Amino acid sequence: MVDKSEIISFEGNRPLASQDALDLLLSRVSVSRVGGELPSTDALQKIFTAALRAPDHAGLKPWRYLKVAGEQREKLGELFVSAKLQDDPHLDQAAIDKLKKKPLRAPLVIVVIASIQDHPKVPEIEQMLSAGASAQNMLLAAHMQGIGAMWRTGSMTYHSRVREGLGVAQNEKIIGFIYMGSIEGKTRLVPEMNVSQYVKDWN
Ligand SMILES: Cc1cc2nc3c(=O)[nH]c(=O)nc-3n(C[C@H](O)[C@H](O)[C@H](O)COP(=O)(O)O)c2cc1C
Repeated sequence: MVDKSEIISFEGNRPLASQDALDLLLSRVSVSRVGGELPSTDALQKIFTAALRAPDHAGLKPWRYLKVAGEQREKLGELFVSAKLQDDPHLDQAAIDKLKKKPLRAPLVIVVIASIQDHPKVPEIEQMLSAGASAQNMLLAAHMQGIGAMWRTGSMTYHSRVREGLGVAQNEKIIGFIYMGSIEGKTRLVPEMNVSQYVKDWN
């Protein structure tokens, strides 16, 4: 278990080098099996504060987040089902049940929404990337506090009925659902990374 305290210390505005923080960053894995209680208010505050520290051209803050917990997860499951039935009215009961249960895989599901604003210098792609970076910051902040998290999407992410049910506006896009909770069972091993395959000198 990771020591949750004092992961990074600050001196004024200058972060001190922290080998622990780097180790944590390099050891992040997605946790597909989560359960237990909701992350604490304090832990969640840190997770959302980390989200808001994502790089962000012109400080647009092109993101917002919806917390789905408790019975609201059942409502989200029902929304998924109604969206799917719109596409396929003959969906069988097993598929309906499976879909309905999806949000119950974690005590907390965070809907990550990119809110795209018109800006002369910041195109949509940059704002989407900022929102994506904010999602990654949440995964890291969860991991650093010993909380399991996984970024999921799937066809429901882009479905108009789901968008409508979640109150997603025309200028917004759901970029994912982050499932979060306490870690259950073994987590996957961090794979070996072949840096040189992806990084070259330009010459
Ligand atoms: C935008 C996005 C959407 C994803 N959607 C899914 C998904 O729906 N289902 C899934 O199993 N993994 C999905 N993943 C991948 C997992 O979140 C995870 O990154 C992957 O399983 C690799 O695990 P790791 O993060 O431990 O390397 C998605 C990742 C991203 C960035």
